[in-house]
Amino acid sequence: MAKIRFLGHAAFYVEGKGLKGLIDPFLKDNPQSVAYPEDFTDINYIFVTHGHADHLGDAITIAKSTGATIVSCFEIANYCSSFGVSVHPMHIGGRTKFEFGRVKMTPAVHGSGIATGDGVIYGGNPGGFIIEVDGRRLYHAGDTGLIMDMKLLADEGIDVALLPIGGNFVMDIEDAVKATDFIKPKIVVPMHYNTWPIIEADPKEFEKQVRALPVKCKIMQPGDELNF
Ligand code: NI
Ligand code: MN
Repeated sequence: MAKIRFLGHAAFYVEGKGLKGLIDPFLKDNPQSVAYPEDFTDINYIFVTHGHADHLGDAITIAKSTGATIVSCFEIANYCSSFGVSVHPMHIGGRTKFEFGRVKMTPAVHGSGIATGDGVIYGGNPGGFIIEVDGRRLYHAGDTGLIMDMKLLADEGIDVALLPIGGNFVMDIEDAVKATDFIKPKIVVPMHYNTWPIIEADPKEFEKQVRALPVKCKIMQPGDELNF
């Protein structure tokens, strides 16, 4: 059985045989955060969907302190490796085998610039991840609008899909319900909402609309865990 813990916004801890991982570990500056970077001492992989600060977050700090490998697109992996941390570069559509299971990078429609004190660095294409662990499949969409490519994910047998619902920068509830219908996961978990007023959304409204589909909606509060 695999396990996720919601850390607020789009940040998740994921655990299963051979994997103690973090996805988009935006913790220190995350208004919803229930954890600090230093709380994580035993992490082997950190998945980064794109270069925006609310996703790249504390990835480099945690990779430095734990020795974890950052898995991201080629451009972000290159950027991170300039800080001396271990990286595994991938790219959209690529799938590869890790000791815990396979990982595929999926498309997202969004931006990925890395804001630094010296201006914005090109962060490649934004993406999402399908992470296999303990024979289960977890999909983290990253930041994205609704895309037809999500229909292809119905063939992936997704157990849990983590989808943004906050609108403005990403899908709103209406589009996230369509995405849920495209992807057909067993369980859908809304994310990337209510962190700031600009991405306000009611997860109960999302849950209500998902009821029309053969998909279970699980609203997670920061700190909540889900076994799947
Ligand atoms: Ni973003
Ligand atoms: Mn974001």
